[in-house]
Amino acid sequence: MRKTTLLAASCGLLLPSLNASADDKIDFATQIYPFIKSGCIQCHRPEHESPDRPGRKIKPKGGFVFTNKADLLEAEEDGKKFIEPGKPDDSLMLYVTKLPLDSDGHYPPEGKAPQWTEAEKDLFAKWIAAGADFGDWVEDPDPLTVPEWDGKEKAPGTTETAK
Ligand code: HEC
Repeated sequence: MRKTTLLAASCGLLLPSLNASADDKIDFATQIYPFIKSGCIQCHRPEHESPDRPGRKIKPKGGFVFTNKADLLEAEEDGKKFIEPGKPDDSLMLYVTKLPLDSDGHYPPEGKAPQWTEAEKDLFAKWIAAGADFGDWVEDPDPLTVPEWDGKEKAPGTTETAK
């Protein structure tokens, strides 16, 4: 009896703060990178040999590589950072996914890779707003492999979860 009361009391004190930090903290490796990988790296992975034409190199589009932290933080165009920690509205990577699907500047191009869902864009914005913390993630250990895609878009409210 006494034990139970003590336990309940300490849980009541401890849990709210634990829960709050667990909810707020977005884990880049498991919550964000999976939809970068599925939606972007087909065109934004490191230079590699063409599987169809040996000897021919395929370069990352625009020279932008999204498979490691250093390149993601470095990427910018016309003075706009792709990821501006703390400022989702100034982050080009989020901006291009939100442009109308049929506009030239929208990425990923329609039909080439799965679009980010609304939930994924929101999560990405929250992650940037919270300071764009990559945690322990430094790079994709398998940066050339593009997840298979059946051509179907995900439901708007879903986020891609890592295996
Ligand atoms: C099918 C290929 C393809 C996919 C998939 C793709 N991109 Fe790109 N991306 C490009 C090309 C091509 C360019 C333009 C390069 C240039 O103009 O020099 C580009 C350029 C960009 C730029 C620079 C701004 C601009 O308009 O040039 C950003 C930001 C960008 N992509 C973000 C993304 C994001 C975020 C994703 C995934 C959600 C993604 N891209 C997926 C092909 C792709």
